[in-house]
Amino acid sequence: MHPAQPAITSAQWWGSPAAWSDVKGWRVRTIEDVPTAPGALPGVGHLHRLAGQRLRFLESLPGVGPLVRIRLGTAPVYVVTDPVLVHQVQSSKGRSFGRGKQFERMIPLLGHGVITSDGELYHRQRRVIQQAFTPAHIERHAASIRRRTRELCADWTPGRPVDVLEVMKALSVAVTAETLFSNRMPDGVLAQLHRVLPVIERAAVERPMLPKVVDRLPLPFVRRGDEAVARMRALVGEAVAACRERSPEGDGDVVACLLAAHDPDTGRPLADELICDEVIAMLIGGVANVPTTLSWAWYHLALRPGAERRMLAEIAESAEPGDAVPTSTDPQALPYTRAVMYETMRLHSVQLVTQRTTAAVELGDVMLPSGTDTAYSQHSLHTDPHFCHRPEAFSPERWLPDSGWKPPRHAFVPFGGGRFKCVGDNFALAEMLATLVAVGSSWRLTLQPDARVRTSVREPIPGPRGLMLIPKPI
Ligand code: HEM
Repeated sequence: MHPAQPAITSAQWWGSPAAWSDVKGWRVRTIEDVPTAPGALPGVGHLHRLAGQRLRFLESLPGVGPLVRIRLGTAPVYVVTDPVLVHQVQSSKGRSFGRGKQFERMIPLLGHGVITSDGELYHRQRRVIQQAFTPAHIERHAASIRRRTRELCADWTPGRPVDVLEVMKALSVAVTAETLFSNRMPDGVLAQLHRVLPVIERAAVERPMLPKVVDRLPLPFVRRGDEAVARMRALVGEAVAACRERSPEGDGDVVACLLAAHDPDTGRPLADELICDEVIAMLIGGVANVPTTLSWAWYHLALRPGAERRMLAEIAESAEPGDAVPTSTDPQALPYTRAVMYETMRLHSVQLVTQRTTAAVELGDVMLPSGTDTAYSQHSLHTDPHFCHRPEAFSPERWLPDSGWKPPRHAFVPFGGGRFKCVGDNFALAEMLATLVAVGSSWRLTLQPDARVRTSVREPIPGPRGLMLIPKPI
């Protein structure tokens, strides 16, 4: 049982207004008054802390204030740590915020798809993509995810350790490709995508932290990233051309929606270049976070046999003839398995999401000028001890209806919020649930005794490297 923690407000954090209002009365604080996080080095700022102890550094920020200045090199970024203010950035004041640094720096890698674009283009793209994520589409995909997961697990030998992160990545590439292309992807493309995507994903995480000039330097990691991007563009171009030629109407998948879309101004179909950018955005979005989240779920379950037993029992009880385990459409189904998923997302979430102000805007009590780089960290919101009792503990029970705990409004936002909210959120939940059910109905996964699990920072949600788990048939 976890007692609900009282939510703290911005006013409490800043102290009473009288403490900083001057004799003329209420005063809006200026950006100079915002505290800087400790540990900045000249020229480097906080980059060394983000490289070395990223999670600990992000967890420390709410203790500094509701708005905290960090420096990427010499460039300041204002991190919003108060959930109420994060919500304002995403919704009520969202018009004054556009995509930030991180996304601009991804354009040379990912192009102008829905992950990086903004303005009118963004809204058009998003409307088209959303057509492929209706509940009916998602439910259909969930069935094929269970089938694919079973196929993948069929290669497992009882007692022989498997690298779970690698397995979950392979599964996620296959599932995302199917959402995009149904079964129209040319032979061999999937295997090649599986090789290049991790390199691009890593570049998309690392490069936004570094100055632009790095993109032009003859460094091995820059060359590797650029080569992978060129390869992916060629592969995606080939796959889209094959769909256009053979069956453009597809099966209601993302590529079919893109091929059917028309520019509302000119009436022309979307340019091939833009369709490729869109497919790339969805590929990256689709494979980035699901495998790391699922791998951490298996890791925590392996460490907490009581939780694992409870989840496997629930899955066994819910199994119906014909494999029809309820997934996305029934929020009441599989409450404990869902709790495992939410608790894993709470403990392992995206680290920083950036925005830039497009007009002067008052946030809390601070006036941010137009062009200010801001960010928020899901990780620091989700692990803030003010909102969550024993935030470091893996405790699915806290999510059950009888626990008496509920995350305060806006304090649990694994998929972001507002107009840039993850377009694949419901799909991701269905995919993760379907995978937990498919694996958990046949296998138990125990930790290899000498496994040395390290948290890597190669993915937007840091993944567990070296997570070798031993499958045992149920
Ligand atoms: C555990 C799973 C996932 C998590 C935690 C996650 C989280 C996020 C977050 C935090 C954002 C940024 C929101 C912002 O800018 O405010 C995002 C954006 C996005 N995600 Fe996801 N995501 C997940 C799975 C997926 C999947 C499965 C897909 C595709 C099938 C996907 C596609 C996208 C796309 C296209 C965007 C850009 C959306 C936009 O800006 O309109 N994501 N996701």
